[in-house]
Amino acid sequence: MCWVFGYIWHPGSAAREVIAGLQRLEYRGYDSAGLCVIDHASNMQVIRAVGKVNNLKVKSDQHDFSTYHAGIGHTRWATHGGVTEANCHPHLSQSGRFVVIHNGIIENYSELKQELIEKWYTFNSETDTEVTVQLFEDIFDGDYLSTITKLVSRMHGAYGLVFLDRDNGNTMFGTKKWSPMVLGFGKTERYISSDYRSLIGLIDDYIILEDGDIFLLTPDNYQVLSEWLAADRIRQTVDESEKVAELGDFPNFMLKEVFEQPRVLEDVFRGRIDFDAYSLHSHTLAHIATLGIKRITVVASGTSYHSGLLGKYYLEELANIPVDVIVSTEFKYKKKFVSTDELYIFVSQSGETIDTLDSLKIVKEQWGHVFAIVNVPGSAIARAAGQWLFTRAGTEVGVASTKAFVSQVWCFLFLALYLWQKNGLDYRKYREIIDSIDKLPEAISDLLLQNEAIKQVAEKYAHSQNFFYLGRAHELVIAMEWSLKLKELAYIHSEAYSSGELKHGSIALIDAEFPSLMVNWGGILSPKNASSAEEIRARGGKVVWIIAKWDSNKHIYADTIEFNPLISELNPFLEVVILQLWAYHIANSLGRDVDKPRNLAKSVTVE
Ligand code: F6R
Repeated sequence: MCWVFGYIWHPGSAAREVIAGLQRLEYRGYDSAGLCVIDHASNMQVIRAVGKVNNLKVKSDQHDFSTYHAGIGHTRWATHGGVTEANCHPHLSQSGRFVVIHNGIIENYSELKQELIEKWYTFNSETDTEVTVQLFEDIFDGDYLSTITKLVSRMHGAYGLVFLDRDNGNTMFGTKKWSPMVLGFGKTERYISSDYRSLIGLIDDYIILEDGDIFLLTPDNYQVLSEWLAADRIRQTVDESEKVAELGDFPNFMLKEVFEQPRVLEDVFRGRIDFDAYSLHSHTLAHIATLGIKRITVVASGTSYHSGLLGKYYLEELANIPVDVIVSTEFKYKKKFVSTDELYIFVSQSGETIDTLDSLKIVKEQWGHVFAIVNVPGSAIARAAGQWLFTRAGTEVGVASTKAFVSQVWCFLFLALYLWQKNGLDYRKYREIIDSIDKLPEAISDLLLQNEAIKQVAEKYAHSQNFFYLGRAHELVIAMEWSLKLKELAYIHSEAYSSGELKHGSIALIDAEFPSLMVNWGGILSPKNASSAEEIRARGGKVVWIIAKWDSNKHIYADTIEFNPLISELNPFLEVVILQLWAYHIANSLGRDVDKPRNLAKSVTVE
């Protein structure tokens, strides 16, 4: 998505600070970038570049910014209008006095644009954003906050807007609705950003703006208004432990994040499981266990949706609670039957996904019990839910979610174990699961040692145009997640299928060029998977098996990736690591940018 960044204070620093800020935000959306800097003599420079923020930096390096003390910058993920320089933000008003950056979508922009065209305004871009700055200029009454209030009353949609006035270099102002925005306070510097974590190391404290807030920021003051009144927003201290992620010796963040998973799991267990006493600890879950929950609905998107599907498996199999899992975009507009014995779980790595957030708000309005599984403390979904489990995966920079998925799945397992204790616990099985959880970080570390072997098999298949990913039960979910990773990272078509369902039509696609991958550690559905594999082989198809080291049928498979299974409930954690490395190596061997795959954004804040 688009991200905004603003800086005000030291002459000569504005462009450098803005570009550094955009570089920290770049992983979240990255098809083009732009900046605007101003000085106290009403000079203004606007620079835009298509592609990575580095292209903007290279262009900017040719300019002299020594007098410029205030600036705003933007990374764009195109919604309205193609990826062109003209469509890059910032956008200017007709006179060139006001300039804006925007994250969100103005839904009624074409009506507003028409109205402005009739007043002889001309437009230089195809974006919805340009209308905001033109309209601002049209209705400007000499007071920034009052004009923003009028502007907001004319716009429908989602926005995080930041404006500069060329003729007053001391002020930044704007507003937000459904798009994240924070004000940051350094020793003397002032910042605005879509992401608090982009400001760590630069600021002492910060304010998270709420929907509807209108703000004004100067080097020595700030104002936040809500509904015309001064809003008392808390200034929160920066948590220095949430450091900006660094690559270290890894070639990219994706590989680093895959290798971080044993440590992430140890973090997510901490204080929540006592392995010696076989006890579980969580104030939030203790409260949820008192609610008399009879059903659960999980709402999420993408990879987080897949973690919800594994959550369904755990909650149904262990805690005996029926679960529906639905993607946020569909949930939002479907008929709802909210009842007091149902729990709604919203899952999100970023905590900002707009459809998940909106769905949560709808359930809350109907007095449903809501609960979030999120990775980012202070995110909109965490704040709106009011009760949550944090996944403690740390900052995830790679656009493809890896370590956050693993910790989300663990949170579901933890919830299921917790509720199971209150609902017909089989203590022998429970102890077996806790013992296996204890072994999980080491089991993943062992698996990561097979990175090179996984790479060799994956690269053999890198030039296939299509794949089936097959599995049964919870391993079908792993196949779904696998398929998503391959599409987003390698841009290769793949479909996840129940291996048993293939013969009902889709097996017609199989030939020697259409490989299938089967996730099958050797559980009770193993013979069924083996029959499906034979059916594929009989039609000339190749099957790569993800199998237990002791599998005696290895010789019949085209290729195998072997691992040491734990117990059935824990194997998805191992299988998913294999799939992450598989997709990574295929994408890497095809020369894809694994950290910033094309067309994507890390956090989806528009509908
Ligand atoms: C895929 C991926 C996306 C996200 C989805 C939801 O690797 O990362 O599918 O899972 O956009 O995002 P969050 O979890 O931030 O709500």
